Amino acid sequence: MIRKCLFPVAGYGTRFLPATKSMPKEMLPVVNKPLVQYGVEEAVAAGLDNVTFVTGRGKRAIADHFDISYELEHQIAGTAKEEYLEGIRSLIDNVNFSFTRQHNMLGLGHAILTGEPLIGDEAFGVVLADDLCIGEDGVSVMEQMAKLYKQFRCSIVAIQEVPEDEVHKYGVIAGDSMMEGLFRVTDMVEKPKKEDAPSNLAIIGRYILTPDIFDKIRETPPGANGEVQITDAILRQAKEGCVLAYKFKGRRFDCGSVEGFVDATNYCFEHFYKQSK
Ligand code: UTP
Repeated sequence: MIRKCLFPVAGYGTRFLPATKSMPKEMLPVVNKPLVQYGVEEAVAAGLDNVTFVTGRGKRAIADHFDISYELEHQIAGTAKEEYLEGIRSLIDNVNFSFTRQHNMLGLGHAILTGEPLIGDEAFGVVLADDLCIGEDGVSVMEQMAKLYKQFRCSIVAIQEVPEDEVHKYGVIAGDSMMEGLFRVTDMVEKPKKEDAPSNLAIIGRYILTPDIFDKIRETPPGANGEVQITDAILRQAKEGCVLAYKFKGRRFDCGSVEGFVDATNYCFEHFYKQSK
């Protein structure tokens, strides 16, 4: 049973400048809820109610969001506006939040390793909050993956088919098909050129990792830009043991890009916000 979920949120969010100059990318609102809250709700729906953030400089708004705001709550107590805070209050009451800081932004692999003391020796989920995922039939993507983990007990990466001319933005897998939508990973390439990509199956921001990943990250030398890629460490796990790639059921919006963010906003406005009115 997986209990913990890691949120690496230390990145600079340069694709969203100037909005992210002094505000964390993860706090950008999709309609009326910050991106990171969608991610936490997804993790909690999968039973992962110990949430760890790897934050960095300029990210304090995330910690404040998952804390009580006494003055504000006092101000709106007894008014109709109280209902706006119900969702976040329920998370604050039911989730155990912890925080650590990545001092130098040396890549996703390094960010995950920074979370090791708060994760310890157990399998855990990873959510990149800028990928907003909406599971099919109300089953969150992390919930789908946690179910698979129960069966297979190994690291799992979420994948989606992308157009060939977009593979250079992603980690891309090669794998042997095990059953509908599930592959055993045989190779992984980070941001390949179209002609070098082993497939069009791209890794998106949802992972379940077994704790041996920390040693694998430590064994992974930094790449050309000094960043430690998580893909390299997961490939080591795949070569020495087993890693699965799961074509999740649902939709995913790349909210780290302006286009994906606008698409997510339109989708959530139509499907969630308007429905709730
Ligand atoms: P991205 O590369 O998508 O995010 O990293 P970024 O660096 O914030 O955005 P751009 O590319 O400059 O626009 C994927 C995830 O990994 C986290 C980011 O916060 C994001 O959630 N990350 C990345 C870290 O926590 N630390 C790092 O050193 C790098």
